[in-house]
Amino acid sequence: MTRIIALLGGKGGVGKSTLTANLGTAMADFGANVVAVDANLTTPNLGIHLGIPLYPKTMHDVLKGRVSITDAIYRHPSGLRVIPAGISLDDLRGVDPKELSTHLLDLVGIVDYILLDASAGLGREALAAQESADETLLVTTPDMPSVTDSLKAAKIGEQLGTKTLGTVVNRITGRKHEMSYEQIMTMLDSQIVAEIPEDPAVPESIAARMPVVHYRPRSPAAREIKRLAAYLLGVEYQEPSWLRKLFRL
Ligand SMILES: Nc1ncnc2c1ncn2[C@@H]1O[C@H](COP(=O)(O)OP(=O)(O)O)[C@@H](O)[C@H]1O
Ligand SMILES: [Mg+2]
Repeated sequence: MTRIIALLGGKGGVGKSTLTANLGTAMADFGANVVAVDANLTTPNLGIHLGIPLYPKTMHDVLKGRVSITDAIYRHPSGLRVIPAGISLDDLRGVDPKELSTHLLDLVGIVDYILLDASAGLGREALAAQESADETLLVTTPDMPSVTDSLKAAKIGEQLGTKTLGTVVNRITGRKHEMSYEQIMTMLDSQIVAEIPEDPAVPESIAARMPVVHYRPRSPAAREIKRLAAYLLGVEYQEPSWLRKLFRL
């Protein structure tokens, strides 16, 4: 069975693309058959996060009916398979985001997990990602504007009958003004499945065009993302500690 999971959060800059790239890579490392799709059609950057060079077959070409979705799958050196979106303005002409779900159906049965990197906002594009998905992961930062926007996304999901897998709180610094675990959980009425700290390894990894789970696998952000990947896959995962390594020797 193919599970289509959309990474949503009304607000931009909360970490949806970072999480899509890294969760996908970590899931692939655990042996999952996963494809990450850039469903952010107007301001796509999943490919940019991963340093994917201009790729001749994009999600836009798929939506325009020029190529089949299976032909648009790019294999990243990390092992993650990605369907990037076109980054030029020309790519946007004649594209209807509503077609997304129809094309994703062609991947059903071929891949086990499709991760959709949704756009910010609650417009047509974000809605198309949400409508295409069976399940959603809400991504938010621990501040009121971001949590409020995620709440709206969650409400739309409820109306569409999409199952919310939980909330990922990203970029936690632990400063006093940040919203607490309980406040976020209560407001969104959904369990928190990951708490990712603010971690300089993340922007460094983007500059290096590599997912942070490979670039700095032992960084706090990478560890938490790997833990989330294991949780979603239902596999056991323990970060190898120095002590455990010593025992193995
Ligand atoms: N855990 C983190 N620690 C530090 N920086 C982060 C973290 N997560 C994301 N970022 C930074 O935040 C910016 C926005 O992230 P991005 O994934 O593009 O957000 P979105 O897709 O939600 O708009 C990126 O420049 C990224 O480097
Ligand atoms: Mg993004």
